[in-house]
Amino acid sequence: MQSLSTRHLLGIKDLTESDIHLILDTAKEFKEVINRPIKKVPSLRDITIANVFFENSTRTRLSFELAEKRLSADVVNFSASGSSVKKGETLLDTVNNILAMKVDMIVMRHSSPGAPHFLAKHIPANVVNAGDGTHEHPTQALLDSFSIRQKLGDVAGKRVAIIGDITHSRVALSNIFCLQKQGAEVMVCGPATLIPKHIDALGVRVSHDVREALNWCDVANVLRIQLERQQIKYFPSLREYSLYFGISKQMLDELDRPIVLMHPGPINRGVELTSDAADSPHSIILDQVENGVAVRMAVLYLLAQL
Ligand code: CP
Repeated sequence: MQSLSTRHLLGIKDLTESDIHLILDTAKEFKEVINRPIKKVPSLRDITIANVFFENSTRTRLSFELAEKRLSADVVNFSASGSSVKKGETLLDTVNNILAMKVDMIVMRHSSPGAPHFLAKHIPANVVNAGDGTHEHPTQALLDSFSIRQKLGDVAGKRVAIIGDITHSRVALSNIFCLQKQGAEVMVCGPATLIPKHIDALGVRVSHDVREALNWCDVANVLRIQLERQQIKYFPSLREYSLYFGISKQMLDELDRPIVLMHPGPINRGVELTSDAADSPHSIILDQVENGVAVRMAVLYLLAQL
């Protein structure tokens, strides 16, 4: 049996192209499983997983929990709010106390970039990064690639435009690595203030014109403005952002050829996407969410074999 080259999933940067293909191929099998009347398999019956979330989440947390339950793992959930973190307990003490209860794997979201990498160096359990600050969100990028595969057959050779707040987005960085490793071309598009200065060094195209990006791409992956991570004003107002960078159904309908619309969520309706675009036939946003469970099942299953 093929196995991953790493015992943690900390970022896409650390994965090989064959790791990515192995995860996506395994996810395809799990997607069939979760669409059966009996959605559960006994693969992780003796494994206990803790979902440790120091930052808010809807999709990622529920998706990991469902993936774990579909694999028959035992699951515990930890939220920093309401925990002893509020009394000053450190990250490492918190996690070591969770591990003392015979937990085998930690899925962690944290606002500090590198927090899961730090943890992986200090604990014996497998660590899965569920988003670390503005750094990486590897399972989001994997589920995005899985969704492109399902819709367009392959990722290789496709043109993907990532549109929005690139500077503050962990989804953007993980997607750039994931798409390029599979042979896709990537463009980032947004206001100059929301695109890191030297991002072209990663081999991506840069545009500040949303219509140019939409005309160029096969897939538009639209990101929200992360106001919670912005200490200064990067553009005059949300209304102005929406005017210059917002995408409507009409803009998509008027393109010469159909493109696929993606968004990792949560959507700020009326800012980066109008509601009619988000809910249009161009959109595969809810397919991404469905695919997230299968992709996370694949990640957890493959890590548990190591
Ligand atoms: N896409 C994503 O990470 O969503 P949540 O913040 O709700 O988990």
